[in-house]
Amino acid sequence: MCGIVGFTGENQAAPILLDGLSKLEYRGYDSAGIAVRDGEKETEVIKAKGRLKVLAEKTNGGASVPGTCGIGHTRWATHGEPSENNAHPHISDDGNVVAVHNGIIENYQELKDKLTRKGYTFYSATDTEVAVKLVDYYYKKYEGTPVDAINHALIRIRGSYALAIMFRDYPEEIYVARKDSPMILGVENGESYIASDVPAILKYTRNVYYIGNLEMARVRKGEITFYNLDGEEIQKEMKTIEWDAEAAEKAGFEHFMMKEIHEQPKAVLDTLNSVLKNGAFDLSEVGLSDEDMEKISQIYIVACGSAYHVGMVAQYVIEDLAKIPVRVELASEFRYRKPLLDKNGLVIVVSQSGETADSLAALREAKEKGIRTLGIVNVVGSSIAREADNVFYTLAGPEISVATTKAYSTQLIASYVLAIQLAKVKGQIDEEQYSAYVEELKTLPEKIKKIIEDKERIQWFAAKQANAKDIFFVGRGIDYAICMEGSLKMKEISYIHSEAYAAGELKHGTISLIEDGTLVIGVLTQSELYEKTISNMVECKSRGAYLMGLTTYGNYNIEDTVNFATYIPKTDEHFATSLAVIPLQLMGYYVSVAKGLDVDKPRNLAKSVTVE
Ligand code: F6R
Repeated sequence: MCGIVGFTGENQAAPILLDGLSKLEYRGYDSAGIAVRDGEKETEVIKAKGRLKVLAEKTNGGASVPGTCGIGHTRWATHGEPSENNAHPHISDDGNVVAVHNGIIENYQELKDKLTRKGYTFYSATDTEVAVKLVDYYYKKYEGTPVDAINHALIRIRGSYALAIMFRDYPEEIYVARKDSPMILGVENGESYIASDVPAILKYTRNVYYIGNLEMARVRKGEITFYNLDGEEIQKEMKTIEWDAEAAEKAGFEHFMMKEIHEQPKAVLDTLNSVLKNGAFDLSEVGLSDEDMEKISQIYIVACGSAYHVGMVAQYVIEDLAKIPVRVELASEFRYRKPLLDKNGLVIVVSQSGETADSLAALREAKEKGIRTLGIVNVVGSSIAREADNVFYTLAGPEISVATTKAYSTQLIASYVLAIQLAKVKGQIDEEQYSAYVEELKTLPEKIKKIIEDKERIQWFAAKQANAKDIFFVGRGIDYAICMEGSLKMKEISYIHSEAYAAGELKHGTISLIEDGTLVIGVLTQSELYEKTISNMVECKSRGAYLMGLTTYGNYNIEDTVNFATYIPKTDEHFATSLAVIPLQLMGYYVSVAKGLDVDKPRNLAKSVTVE
């Protein structure tokens, strides 16, 4: 949720830290801070409440904080309100230990009490300050190495953390530890980088190490040593990140969200091509053979937010094509529900970041029960990707905007591929139908592109909705699942209350909320359900609703009912979500822009939710 950056090398650290933090600001952004060390001199800590630019101004772009080793942090408040005092880095009273932290220390009160009894004073309301002082305590108590001190502290800490720590006795070195919170380390030309997420260091290096859970690292200029929880040295393999640095820049677009909307045709095509060989799907890289698939008798899809909405779509598509029962569940519910799982089941965890705490916990719950797990993940080397039995990587590239667009679209593709392959393996479709579905998927990128090219019409309509109080999205079947994503896109970035409703459910309560002028957006891509949803929309219109209809080219009679219609190209109806979601992403975007809001960084939200 928060962002961490670290650097030690020949260059000045502060500008690199600020630059890296600017790439991570989407992860959390109510305050920021850096700690920089200039050789043997005392560490200088500078913090600021608010956006990163406040810190950048305070430090003159980093120029006023000399030194070649440092750590930085952007914060999304968990313990303690957003304030300069609660911002990271935190430092021990005598300046011995300074650290930044992502995650939550669950037993921080108990540790704080212990340290208070030992004479420590606390100045912030954060759990991070507790971690700093705990490390300081053990460093002094055992008079060992930083790794020993961190080791002792980690044994006492419950919760999740990614920590970057500097010790006064070890200038030009940074120590790192991690549990259930992302962290990568990079090395290039005798310099070393630390980051909680790839975009922060992509400009500087693509050579990275993934530090594992309950592992530590000593980071020196161009040299990193890893340790396990016993303090023993361990070897790690360096990996190369395929994403290029430009992918994490705005490339002339006003917002990352708009850029990422435009990247969808490519992201969809890349994801599809990654598993296509000679006109058929080859899931050998995913690690799922036809024999494995044949055994699957039940699928559970577990995810959060938009990724959960992908699961809702996948449920319809897999059940209809492959005739395998699918259950979709919110990860935060699944993990505590003590789910009864079929031993021939497959648990699919869908996650862009691969770090969402609830999704990761759900994955572990499934693994503990001995059920095979598959991650549909965008970030290579992320926790879910590493821990799942199999991984289907989506090739969306780095997604910076908090509101997901291209990752969602690629997750849909992964779901369709699985549905079609399962349908074939289970004998539910013949070769001809199989090829027809594959061919149909190949047409999606061009169709998505066409919808995006026509964005001005949506812009015109969306701009007029900026004062809406409530918006309802209604649809049936797959259209209902599309509504869920459309509604989330709208509310998260426009701050307009919106709800997705199964169209037939409105009259069981919600219709009482419809007033004169309330915007009701009907999604109608499923021909069998078209008339039914139209009837439900008419029921709303009779109560004063203002109607927008989103349907397929050809259904022009919708204009007899709605005030505004928008159309998507025809496709096999199983895959309609990939097209229908585009105008809804654009709607959310343009309403947000019309209201003058911060599209890429909506209030209170963070890109990757690594706390439960
Ligand atoms: C909404 C959005 C979130 C994420 C959710 C899961 O636009 O992006 O709802 O989908 O937080 O995140 P991941 O996919 O990283 O597990």
